Amino acid sequence: MVKVTVCGAAGGIGQPLSLLLKLNQNVDELALFDIVNANGVAADLSHICSPAKVTGHQPANKEDKLAITSALTNSDLVIIPAGVPRKPGMTRADLFNINASIIRDLIANVGKTCPNAAILIISNPVNATVPIAAEVLKKLGVFNPKKLFGVTTLDSVRAETFLGELINEPPKSLKGKISVIGGHSGDTIVPLINVNSTISAKSSKITPAQYKEFVHRVQFGGDEVVKAKNGAGSATLSMAYAGYRFAESVLDSLAGGKTNTSVVPETSYVYLPGLPNGEELSKKSLNGATYFSVPVILEKGEIKSFINPFDSLTITENEKQLVSVALNGLEKSIAQGTNFVKGSK
Ligand code: NAD
Ligand code: LMR
Repeated sequence: MVKVTVCGAAGGIGQPLSLLLKLNQNVDELALFDIVNANGVAADLSHICSPAKVTGHQPANKEDKLAITSALTNSDLVIIPAGVPRKPGMTRADLFNINASIIRDLIANVGKTCPNAAILIISNPVNATVPIAAEVLKKLGVFNPKKLFGVTTLDSVRAETFLGELINEPPKSLKGKISVIGGHSGDTIVPLINVNSTISAKSSKITPAQYKEFVHRVQFGGDEVVKAKNGAGSATLSMAYAGYRFAESVLDSLAGGKTNTSVVPETSYVYLPGLPNGEELSKKSLNGATYFSVPVILEKGEIKSFINPFDSLTITENEKQLVSVALNGLEKSIAQGTNFVKGSK
């Protein structure tokens, strides 16, 4: 029996993401939690003739804790796109004041109700909300770094699409050949395209100006959507696809089917010191940064190992420069998230 819970299920991401999860044959129960309209979305999805049983969980008032508890009980995978999206002129960091406490409180419930679940954090700013989640779980004594994932798949999806357009390759053939490491905002996002000889050969045909434009587009793709939506939010549909792509790899690994090295590893923003060889990567190549996005290899719903981008991929000098810029931005966000929880009761 595999139970998946979506927190923020009635939102712009939550609804299409829940639809995709409802279609996954490995899901037995899909629990939809939101502070508004969770029951409506659940009723709607429950009419689809796929195996997952859909349940809606919506608190009757602010004091009602039953809804979140029932949504999370026995959950194997909790996906969190709850919170506020950006409007034009805002950075992801501007969302911290509202989204930090939403994540803190939701994760406290996860830690108390289903501490063994894999947790996927979508809510922004991811660079800080993942450290918040880790600190809450640490306080509760249930932190498993192998099961806490910041979802950065949209950056990979964008990189595959944009590079595919540039070098005239189907984006599908680029999956796993481009790694987007670092964090999930502006210049903390670092696309590595020089990762295999085929791509290197093709991408070397890109002019320096095209390469610069490609990196900028991957780093600021989110802004492109925020601007185009003109006040109506940020990426929702491409994010639902990306979030589902990551969730699907966790579900595959839970089902014990296509696991480990047989599937192309997705990248995720994770707590390195808690992973095998993670501390070494952090100290040796990342100036001690504790959270960083790397390609992760999954087994049974958790991280078995990761690919060290500095060992296994051919990083160019230019890409190393991008990493060092990324580390500056990450350090501030990680400290902000960590201190937020350490400072709260
Ligand atoms: P949205 O406003 O459409 O939906 C958010 C949903 O969260 C709403 O339904 C709201 O009722 C719900 N919510 C708010 N507080 C809640 C709580 N305490 N418990 C449960 N649900 C709660 O926003 P969206 O467009 O779906 O974006 C959601 C978040 O995802 C934003 O923070 C956005 O910045 C982020 N995002 C991340 C990525 C990424 O790549 N990681 C991509 C796109 C968006
Ligand atoms: C994105 O990359 O599209 C998301 O992080 C949403 C945003 O605020 O840009």
